[in-house]
Amino acid sequence: MKIMHDFKKIKSNILSQIENSTELDDLDMVRVSAIGRKGQITELMKTLRDLEPNERKDIGQQLNLLKKSISDAINIKRKLLEEKNINLQLSSETIDLTLPVENSELGFIHPISQVIDEIIIIFGQMGFVVAEGPDIEDDWHNFTALNIPEEHPARQMHDTFYLGKKKNSENLHLNKVLRTHTSPVQVRTMLTQSPSIKIIVPGRTYRSDSDQTHTPMFHQVEGLVIDESTNMGHLKGCLVNFVSSFFGLKNLDYRFRPSYFPFTEPSAEMDIGCVRKKNEIQIGGAEDWLEILGCGMVNPRVLENCGIDSKKYQGFAFGMGIDRLAMLKYGMPDLRSFFDSDLRWLRHYGFMPIDSPGMPGR
Ligand code: PHE
Repeated sequence: MKIMHDFKKIKSNILSQIENSTELDDLDMVRVSAIGRKGQITELMKTLRDLEPNERKDIGQQLNLLKKSISDAINIKRKLLEEKNINLQLSSETIDLTLPVENSELGFIHPISQVIDEIIIIFGQMGFVVAEGPDIEDDWHNFTALNIPEEHPARQMHDTFYLGKKKNSENLHLNKVLRTHTSPVQVRTMLTQSPSIKIIVPGRTYRSDSDQTHTPMFHQVEGLVIDESTNMGHLKGCLVNFVSSFFGLKNLDYRFRPSYFPFTEPSAEMDIGCVRKKNEIQIGGAEDWLEILGCGMVNPRVLENCGIDSKKYQGFAFGMGIDRLAMLKYGMPDLRSFFDSDLRWLRHYGFMPIDSPGMPGR
């Protein structure tokens, strides 16, 4: 009976320690001192082996019950304390979303990012989805599959950056290049998706070239539509719609000139009407023409190279320089300053993060 009495005292003592714990750390100390490896109850349990079998059974049960009620009490208290901590944290971390934005002048959207967003929105409304591919390409995706075989003059025209060109012609398709256009993503998409396909591919491209209108790294957006019936009329409608929306012109002057690309047949280039003043080009008006993109019907050879039946499927592709579109739309004279990371330039030409891309804030 004396031991029983002790148990009651021990229990109420530990329970009140649990009750009085105000931090998780305190509670854990109570746990260790009661039911930890060297805790009070654990030590009592060790004494069981010195008792008579009868007593051992009885006291053992009591001790087990005691241990259980203590660990239950600890668990309940722990939950309460954890909840209290989370509530404290939540109340100290509230943000008032109705407050005006402070320091909204600090960060600016680069004109290239802005223009990419604008392009995605316009083509998105026409049902295109964005696709991507790697900047480091192999020779096959960048050239061969696009019907630009080795020794084709178009390879020289691209001023390619080769990453370790191999002399062994058998291995040529293993060579890596920095992609010279976004067209290899046409190949990658056709190899992995079956028609119908309707993608645009904004991304970085590279050519060994640098002057006022060329930088070694620049941006293109590619377009590709493949299904059973898309024709040149759709191509024209799609591009005219894009260019008019992008420049915000209701009556756009444009023309399509026959051209040549190995991966399209027939091929064309699109010019838009412009007015040229000294150092400036203004879009709209029909004084002069400005070439803005290349396009055409996907060459059946490219379809076959990508495992698409050219008797059943057809479509169009186009490619244009994003940086040039940005320069023309927002009147930036030198392409090289796009990539100088000059904050003064960015403050002047950049866009506010809280503006929506379709509605430039300047
Ligand atoms: N890849 C071509 C270039 O970089 C552009 C283009 C893409 C032309 C698709 C036609 C079709 O010049």
